Amino acid sequence: MPRVLITPPQFQDPNRTYYKRLIAAGFEVRFASKPLTGADTKTLLRELEGIDGVLASTEPYTRDVLSQAKLRGIARAGVGYDSVDVPAASDHGVVVTITPGAVDVSVAEHTLALVLGFFRDVIGRDREVRSGQWTRAARPRLAGKTHGIVGLGRIGKSLVPRLQGLGLSVVAHDPFADAVWAASQKVQLLASDDLFRTADVISLHCPCTAETTNLICDRTLKLMKPDAVLVNMGRGGLVDEDALAAAMRGGHLFGAALDVFKVEPLPTTSPLLGIPNLLLATHTGGLDFQSEEDMSCFAAQNLIDLQAGRWPEASIINRQLKNGWKW
Ligand SMILES: NC(=O)c1ccc[n+]([C@@H]2O[C@H](COP(=O)([O-])OP(=O)(O)OC[C@H]3O[C@@H](n4cnc5c(N)ncnc54)[C@H](O)[C@@H]3O)[C@@H](O)[C@H]2O)c1
Repeated sequence: MPRVLITPPQFQDPNRTYYKRLIAAGFEVRFASKPLTGADTKTLLRELEGIDGVLASTEPYTRDVLSQAKLRGIARAGVGYDSVDVPAASDHGVVVTITPGAVDVSVAEHTLALVLGFFRDVIGRDREVRSGQWTRAARPRLAGKTHGIVGLGRIGKSLVPRLQGLGLSVVAHDPFADAVWAASQKVQLLASDDLFRTADVISLHCPCTAETTNLICDRTLKLMKPDAVLVNMGRGGLVDEDALAAAMRGGHLFGAALDVFKVEPLPTTSPLLGIPNLLLATHTGGLDFQSEEDMSCFAAQNLIDLQAGRWPEASIINRQLKNGWKW
C-alpha cells in the first residue's frame, strides 16, 4: 500500500476531503509528528521513513534528503517550490508537483489587506483606541496611485482587476509577460528599474530564483520613490532584509509589508522587528478556507494520478521525467 506523509499542520484532519480521497484511492496516510518548515535533514528523514509520497509544505527537500529518502512524488500544496532541490529530485526520479491557480485569489486578497491595512494604518488605529491616545492623523489616499506588480503570473494577474477596482493604475514587470493580456487589461509593462522608479506601491509576485534573489537591495531601494510602499508576497529571498531595514531606518520609503522572510518563522532578533512602519504577516497569503480545500485536494489528486500511472502534466515541475517514469 503506497504511503503518504502530510506535512502542512493545517491539513492534518481526517475529516478533510483530500484525506478521504487518498484513503479511497488506496493510500495509507500519515501525519507528520510536528511542523517541519526549516527542519534539519535528520528530523525530516525520520519523518520520511517508509514514505512514498509527500503532500508537502515548505520543509527543505535538499539533495541530501532526496538521496536518502525513498520518495516517488513530492506534491507541494501551493505554487512555490524553492524548498525543493528540483535537479536533485529529478536525479532521484522524484516527481515534483504544485497546485497552480489554487491560491491566486487568496494571495491577491492578502496583498490588498496589507496595502490597505498600511495606508489606513489599521493596526496603529487599533492600538490608539486601546491606549486611549487618539491622534486621528490623516494618511495618504490610495486611489489614484500607481501600483507596480513584479511578476505578472497567475497571482499578479488576479491582482490587476482588484487594484483597478480601487482606482489604482497598474504597471508591471515580467520578462516573460503575456503582452497581449497586459494590453487588454491596460497594464503597462515596464523594465524593472523603470517600475521601481515609477510605482507608488510595489508588490512582488515572482519566484525566488538565482536571478531574483535579493532583487530588492541597496541599488533598487535607491531607485524607489522616498514615499513608496513595498509589499513582498513572493518569497523572503527576494528581499535583502538588512538593506531594507537600513533604508527604512534612514527614513526611506513610506512603509513596507512582508508576508515572507528569508528565515521563517522570522527570528525574534531580526532587525526588521524594530521598524515601526513595517507591517508583518506570517506567510499566510495563500491561506484561506477555500484555498486550503482546493490546494489539499489538488495536491492529493496529483499523488493519486501519479500512483495510478497518470501524468498530471500541468502540475508537474520536472516534466522531463515523463518517459518511462513509474511510481
Ligand atoms: N505569500 C504566500 O503565501 C504565497 C502563496 C503562493 C505563492 N507565493 C509566491 O508567489 C509566486 C508567484 O506565484 P504564481 O502562482 O503567480 O506563479 P506564476 O509562475 O504564475 O507567476 C510568476 C511570474 O513571475 C515571473 N517572473 C519570473 N522571473 C521574473 C523576474 N526576474 N522578474 C519579474 N517576474 C519574473 C514569471 O514569468 C511568471 O509570470 C510564487 O513563486 C510563490 O513564491 C506566495
